[in-house]
Amino acid sequence: MKIFVDSANVDTIETLVPLRIVDGVTTNPSLLAKEPGDPHETLARICRAVGGPVSAEVVATDAEGMVAEGRRLASIDEHVVVKVPFGKAGVQACAALAGDGIRVNVTLVFSPAQALLAAKVGAAFVSPFVGRLDDVATDGMDLVSRSVEIYENYHFETEVLVASVRGPAHVVEAARMGADVCTCPPKVIDMLFNHPLTDIGLAKFLADWEKAQVVSV
Ligand code: E4P
Repeated sequence: MKIFVDSANVDTIETLVPLRIVDGVTTNPSLLAKEPGDPHETLARICRAVGGPVSAEVVATDAEGMVAEGRRLASIDEHVVVKVPFGKAGVQACAALAGDGIRVNVTLVFSPAQALLAAKVGAAFVSPFVGRLDDVATDGMDLVSRSVEIYENYHFETEVLVASVRGPAHVVEAARMGADVCTCPPKVIDMLFNHPLTDIGLAKFLADWEKAQVVSV
């Protein structure tokens, strides 16, 4: 399973890339709005840093506007994936952009029916928002499992990109279900590395080694 960073912070992304576990980045208007400077320049820097798919979302709300904005975003860098919100306008824009050979991530997907429609119009990625579903007492991961099943049934090439991830359990479940990608906030990536028994085990190994050096002197 590919791991994307869900962030628009260039410094954070540049810190994570050398770990060699990062395959791409997702941004959204809320994340980009937190960063200083020109958003297009920020996206260009992220693309250079990660060298993999970087989702950049349109803010137009009509299909024509989404297509025009999507083309502008795609011209920033070959790694840009244009993100469009699910809906009638988003679906039409996805079909047009995909027809131009531009990769599209259909975002704000909350039902298997929406995931099916996004795949039918050639989305490269579809983003089920699992955490926001969990927040309203609905099983977000069930949407992932149903989307994976539907895409397998019809051999859609659309990749299931698990979004709105809140912790390692979402990541592990996504991998068990065969999701293609999981996009994680930086703090969740940190959590994936951590286990108290690893820390305790390493401290003991080093202490035992240190003791043996003292005895042999
Ligand atoms: C993904 O592409 C979205 O930007 C993101 O995962 C949304 O997550 P949130 O629900 O934590 O805002």
